[in-house]
Amino acid sequence: MEKKGFSSRLGFVLAAAGSAVGLGNIWRFPYLAAEHGGGMFLLVYLILAVTFGFTLMITEVALGRKTGKSAIGAYKFLSKKCSFIGYLEALVPMIIFPYYCVIGGWVVKFLGVYITDQGSAATSENYFGDFIGGVSEPLFCLGIFLVLTSVVVLLGVEKGIERVSKIMMPILIVISIGLSVYCVTLDGAMEGLIYYLRPDFEHFGIKTVVAAMGQLFYSMSLAMGIMVTYGSYMGKKDDLEKSVRHIELFDTGIAFIAGLMIIPAVFAFSGGKDLQQGPTLMFVTLPKVFNSFPGGNVVGFVFFVLVLFAALTSAISLMETIVSVFCEIFKAKRTVVCIVVMIVAFLLGVPSSLGFGVLSGVTIMGKSILDFFDYISNNIMMPIVALLLSIFIGWIVKPRVVVEEVESSGTFRFRKMYGILIKYIVPVCMIVILISSIIGYV
Ligand code: PHE
Repeated sequence: MEKKGFSSRLGFVLAAAGSAVGLGNIWRFPYLAAEHGGGMFLLVYLILAVTFGFTLMITEVALGRKTGKSAIGAYKFLSKKCSFIGYLEALVPMIIFPYYCVIGGWVVKFLGVYITDQGSAATSENYFGDFIGGVSEPLFCLGIFLVLTSVVVLLGVEKGIERVSKIMMPILIVISIGLSVYCVTLDGAMEGLIYYLRPDFEHFGIKTVVAAMGQLFYSMSLAMGIMVTYGSYMGKKDDLEKSVRHIELFDTGIAFIAGLMIIPAVFAFSGGKDLQQGPTLMFVTLPKVFNSFPGGNVVGFVFFVLVLFAALTSAISLMETIVSVFCEIFKAKRTVVCIVVMIVAFLLGVPSSLGFGVLSGVTIMGKSILDFFDYISNNIMMPIVALLLSIFIGWIVKPRVVVEEVESSGTFRFRKMYGILIKYIVPVCMIVILISSIIGYV
């Protein structure tokens, strides 16, 4: 049976870029860049993106397209003995999806805040803490986010994912460019711009490289089976190298623009002392920043539309990866699998959500439930999977498998470098990331 897939290369690129562009681009990249040497970080990030990131991404997409299978099926197809890598890889989105939707629910809530014109209420000190510490409201928002995601996945690859990406991604570009122009022209923004972009050798070092590598890897949605799954829906004649380059450009471009938006805005508000990363930046600091601007409610609304789109397309890719695995394993109907995944994800999301309220006494390794899942998946499992993947391709089935797939639909200009990267450089980088994560170096 011919598998249903994306109708065009653009559809594939936008869907994959939708997965890559997420909360990581908006709440993590700007902060990391500013913290780790500004322009120097950007330069390092860019070099790593076109070498290391490119190598991992084209490997996953080629694996998917060659085999036409889900993350698990793809590895099994190439080597029965190594199919455990596929199982490990498929486990990553299963861990991430429920808690990612909890955060998606927070975004829904804040969009609601700005729609109902309550932007100034959101600036009160405990607004965010009180909200996530509750029971019914965050769970309700989690439910809304999950239903939105599920509806798109239910509609299928072309009618759901591709269509939604083709609408949301262009809007996302327009909003981010518009907001960044607005923020850069605010009074006092220049200082932030300089802080963000000026190459700073003092803060540059091995830590910069490790931080850039970790961020890149997460930001491009690697090592969780997503790119394998989306690759399996890609047209056999579409140029792989070009597509992967475009996805990278998209992801890096939006991350860069997010920095132009957030850092100058925070500087214009308070001279930069409030700059931090993660949920506090987005749900505590930024509402205050917006409130201090003329027309702050509109800016807040537009900003949270941007974040919602970014989070939704990422969640969709996570859910699609899970659904494709179960459809394949159980040979079950997509609709049934979607509904079951939605319900189970909700139930698994409940403890992560309540971990900020009634279950706040429960900590694992000193972390809240949500942070623990985040740590295990991003810091431990993803580097391990990527390490295994590079060893698998570089040393067991050999890079030829990927090279042939890429060349079946176009030229592979990066071919020579690819072999060296996947065999030697990527595994070493992954070991460095893994060790750094475990010892808490970055
Ligand atoms: N790539 C996403 C980002 O930059 C992260 C992500 C996507 C995480 C999909 C999980 C699933 O935010």
